[in-house]
Amino acid sequence: MTLGGGGTTQVAYGDKWYWEKRYAQEPGSYDWYQTYHSLAPLLRLYVHPHHRVLVVGCGNSDMNMDVRDMSAFEAGSFDAIIDKGTLDAILCGNDSMINAAQMLAEVCRVLKDEGKYILITYGAPVQRLHLLRDSCSLTVKLHVIDKVQSTGSSHQQKWELTSPIASDKDVSSVESVLGPNPGVHYIYVCVKDNTLESRHKAQINY
Ligand SMILES: C[S@@+](CC[C@H](N)C(=O)[O-])C[C@H]1O[C@@H](n2cnc3c(N)ncnc32)[C@H](O)[C@@H]1O
Repeated sequence: MTLGGGGTTQVAYGDKWYWEKRYAQEPGSYDWYQTYHSLAPLLRLYVHPHHRVLVVGCGNSDMNMDVRDMSAFEAGSFDAIIDKGTLDAILCGNDSMINAAQMLAEVCRVLKDEGKYILITYGAPVQRLHLLRDSCSLTVKLHVIDKVQSTGSSHQQKWELTSPIASDKDVSSVESVLGPNPGVHYIYVCVKDNTLESRHKAQINY
């Protein structure tokens, strides 16, 4: 399966051996989708200097942890988790839905209440929203960023990175706002909200 390129080439993005081989062959750093520089205004909005932050699947770092089992971390350890392309890679593999559910369950477990899972992905709401909403009690805001970043100062980006284009319930109808083939990466800012679960239970019990 492809990782957001829209082509049909079969690449084993979902397999551990693929990444180990690739990183052994390409020792230099490489950023998928977007650089820190292009995302910085958004990250500054949601991640503050005192926050404890986990970057999952951060590439060729020495820290080598499977995101489906983060038992090295206690529940409620992080204020923010940043995921750029890792859920996407997992969704390309075998047993993708099981693996993605395991990963998201771990993400929710290690986040503090009101902690943020910031997912940078090529996946549109129709492909990602049900996964996020099924994983745990999250409210979701959606930002987008143009795939191709301009270098010239005169070029205006089509979408304002720091303004969410939709929040929670409206996110599913966002395709009509963006139009077909919008040429963006999607950024889901998911806030863990334990009160949603108790409200849901209360509605069921009523
Ligand atoms: C598309 S790359 C993104 C790398 C980096 N986050 C970036 O933005 O450049 C996907 C990353 O997910 C990592 N990955 C895939 N499956 C994983 C798993 N089960 N546990 C931890 N990392 C995983 C790969 O090692 C790879 O570094």
